[in-house]
Amino acid sequence: MAIESSCDDTSAAVLRNSEVLSNVVATQKVHEAYGGIVPELASRAHQQNIVPVVHQALAIANIDKKQLSAIAFTRGPGLLGSLLVGTSFAKSLALALEIPLIEVHHMQAHILAHFIDEEDSGKPEFPFLALTISGGHTQLVHVRNYLDMEVIGETLDDAVGEAFDKSAKVLGLSYPGGPMIDKYAQKGDPKAFAFPIPKMADLNFSFSGLKTSILYFIQKETAKNPGFVKENLEDICASIQYTIVRILMEKLEKAVRQTGITTVAVGGGVSANSGVRSALEQASLDKGWTCFIPKLEYCTDNAAMIGIVGYLKYLEGNFTDQKSTPLARYSL
Ligand code: KG4
Ligand code: ZN
Repeated sequence: MAIESSCDDTSAAVLRNSEVLSNVVATQKVHEAYGGIVPELASRAHQQNIVPVVHQALAIANIDKKQLSAIAFTRGPGLLGSLLVGTSFAKSLALALEIPLIEVHHMQAHILAHFIDEEDSGKPEFPFLALTISGGHTQLVHVRNYLDMEVIGETLDDAVGEAFDKSAKVLGLSYPGGPMIDKYAQKGDPKAFAFPIPKMADLNFSFSGLKTSILYFIQKETAKNPGFVKENLEDICASIQYTIVRILMEKLEKAVRQTGITTVAVGGGVSANSGVRSALEQASLDKGWTCFIPKLEYCTDNAAMIGIVGYLKYLEGNFTDQKSTPLARYSL
């Protein structure tokens, strides 16, 4: 059994080797009214959700808890109060059942989600480049083997999902705004308005400049014409999305040039974005890249991906004990 509680999703999954028997996710709606995740509310909601979510995961898998052979949990990175709930629950369960306890790095799990057994999906071959893009992460990783990986680029400020969500907020769209920007963008002209792409020599990302330039642009145009956003929403969204996708693709292109690796595996909630998907398809056609995106259920935060890392560590006998503590910051 695997347990994930690093942010605002409470999730439990049961795996038999790399096959997912159940993957239950309780998404917390309480944050919507605040336009972002409120850590204190997230911890409380995890506390309420964890027992029913674990019961449901066992019921769907049709497994009695006495049949479990190990418990894997997310040790970090994430919100400390959220991580504490999953960590404490996992430790208690392993202690009560007298089975091994396995700690999992959340970012490693996003990457190894590509190895969940799925009939109709291929698996990336090592070495590959992994890009994890979500509301909390933007990370580019050189993956040599299952448990051998190195971060080669990450965001210095906002995560890419935050860039979508904060831009959406400026436009008066509801939270989380990424899917709304995507929806309007599909009918707009991506070249209607130009926003800056940061010039950084390395493989790190930055989105805070873009956020500020969008804010100033909207303020300036709205001062001239109060109806500007409403009248141009599709073009504005298309232009924002185009810029964000260019920022991601330029770094991927640079990483491919530097490493000579053309297998690219993308995960995290933002991989649902239509602009990201079509840019990857285009790169496959034009540049011969081989691109992978897991099923959406395994892109967003979920316990199945924690379970796949748990399975690989179980095979190695890589266990932890009751002294394990959650880590809000945890390098890969
Ligand atoms: O992985 P995820 O569900 O949660 C974490 O952040 O851990 O990712 C959520 C993020 C949000 O910022 C949301 O706006 C963004 O993914 N997102 C999208 C799309 N779907 C979700 N951003 C752009 N286009 C989308 N279609
Ligand atoms: Zn995540």
